[in-house]
Amino acid sequence: MRPDSLKTKIFLDSGDPQETKEFLKLLGFLDGQTTNPSLFAKSPEVKQRIEGGDKFSKEEIYIEYKKIISNIAELLPGKSVSIEVYATEETPVSEILDQAREMNIWVKNAHIKLPLTISGLEAGEILVGEGVNINMTLIFNQAQAGAVYSATRGSEKGQVFLSPFVGRLDDIGVDGINYIKNVLDLYKNGDGHVEVLAASIRSYEHFLACLKLQADIVTVPGKILYQWSEDNFFIPDEKWEYRADSLEKKSLEDIDLDRDWREFDIRDELTKKGIEKFVIDWNNLLK
Ligand code: G3P
Repeated sequence: MRPDSLKTKIFLDSGDPQETKEFLKLLGFLDGQTTNPSLFAKSPEVKQRIEGGDKFSKEEIYIEYKKIISNIAELLPGKSVSIEVYATEETPVSEILDQAREMNIWVKNAHIKLPLTISGLEAGEILVGEGVNINMTLIFNQAQAGAVYSATRGSEKGQVFLSPFVGRLDDIGVDGINYIKNVLDLYKNGDGHVEVLAASIRSYEHFLACLKLQADIVTVPGKILYQWSEDNFFIPDEKWEYRADSLEKKSLEDIDLDRDWREFDIRDELTKKGIEKFVIDWNNLLK
């Protein structure tokens, strides 16, 4: 069952409904689930089909993604399930919107994942106005967090998630957990309409650090949730400390959340690389 002192919502980071079942049973609860093109490609049914030499047509791939998402959503009634659009850096807003609107009716409580590009933000601004839930993903710098806040001003709490990727910042020597802290601090100056969803959690220490920071949401691979269960669902106390001494800690920038989102410089090399990787993983599944 959900520990009483747990403030952070726990999502499973997986494209496999079997894992949803397994970790729901192990934890006694899950607050939601996130998927992305790479996780979809890793889901057992998809892997098996590709290994058997049978790739998907463009129609079939969406049918399969919808099936997996529906199976997950059925196991998590009333909980958020994130579904990611296919987008390169060049995909126009209209194409992102078409996919997002279609995916949004696959299940109740969908959050549509949009990459942090100009088109992704433009689409996000339109979609929240239509009442669609969104999850802005591949977030790596503070200007991007400011832009998401600004583009979605006026939306309801719970409608907008911001997904910074902790592990991928660590990969380039920047402290990803410190970045989560900075975004949480930045948003303290705001109205609370964007929830911070810590993603790319690679270690049990990352996970505990997110609980200690009281991030709104953390999305976690099954193997780390398993470690948590082995640790009797420990919630870090005052004494518990996250150490990443070798990683660079960036300071909190002076970001004005009242600015128009178009004024922020949202470019980031990691966002670009992340989009490329998702595109490759998705296209590898296609005929
Ligand atoms: O939640 C995002 C996650 O699935 C990406 O993780 O390990 O590929 O950086 P990773």
